[in-house]
Amino acid sequence: MNIAKAHQISSNLLQKSGIENPELESELLIRYVLSITRTEFYISKMKQLLFSQKKQLEILINERLKFKPLAYITNHKEFYGLKLIVNASVLIPRPETEMLIDIAIKYAKNKNNLLRIADLGTGSGAISIAIAKNIENTKIKAIDISKDSINIAKLNSRKHFVSDKINFVNQSIFEPTNELFELIISNPPYLKTKTLPMLQKEVQKEPEIALNGGEDGLKFIRYIIQKYYDKLSPHGSMIIEIDPNQKDHILSLSKTLNIYDIKFYKDLNKLTRIVQIEKN
Ligand SMILES: C[S@@+](CC[C@H](N)C(=O)[O-])C[C@H]1O[C@@H](n2cnc3c(N)ncnc32)[C@H](O)[C@@H]1O
Repeated sequence: MNIAKAHQISSNLLQKSGIENPELESELLIRYVLSITRTEFYISKMKQLLFSQKKQLEILINERLKFKPLAYITNHKEFYGLKLIVNASVLIPRPETEMLIDIAIKYAKNKNNLLRIADLGTGSGAISIAIAKNIENTKIKAIDISKDSINIAKLNSRKHFVSDKINFVNQSIFEPTNELFELIISNPPYLKTKTLPMLQKEVQKEPEIALNGGEDGLKFIRYIIQKYYDKLSPHGSMIIEIDPNQKDHILSLSKTLNIYDIKFYKDLNKLTRIVQIEKN
């Protein structure tokens, strides 16, 4: 079987299962099996697959048909231009989260002192590593309750040569800390527990611990705003990814805490995605 035929058959199978972008996904799986670039894929459509390659492709297509996310099959995901290792023990980094990095970079501009940064719930290490690559003078503390996540995040930091800038710690964000930070950044679990069974089948393959924000989805966000505001140094900033429906709750919470320097950001779909709180 040549590449063109393999592409046609696998795209059809994925499409019948209702998988979005079946042609692109089957192309990515074929390129993964053959270790070829996009250009090579398009110029070598008549090339025959080896028997072993055909078998491996069949196995991977079957995994995808069972809704295993593509990133867990290929064990990588691109985030802020960086190729990160991922597996089923970490959340797959999302494009929306890249906005956190843009905001952090903007905050860091014109600041000459060392920036002490905390990344709460680091997962694959995506946020910390992107920051370490793009902000010069930083020392990052990245924490996660999942030991497996910490191991993947450490691997990623070594792969991108920033392990000297990040201290990965296997602890809960609910454990108190005495440290101060110029920047506290987090993409915490923020979905309501009762919505988890309704998520896309692929998302249900991701760790529940990375998604479940408790009964009202705000368990982590509330705690971070309440308890970590005091951990900001003067003129420090807190940047948190949120669910678009949480804006009003967060506004009233901040009012009760006498926090007024608060800003929300929308994503490309015009949905409120990020809250930034600054300390004077
Ligand atoms: C939404 S994921 C974000 C992962 C990564 N920062 C990203 O943006 O791709 C939330 C992360 O919080 C971690 N987590 C859940 N409960 C935690 C807790 N109590 N303390 C620390 N981390 C926690 C999960 O293991 C998961 O890695």
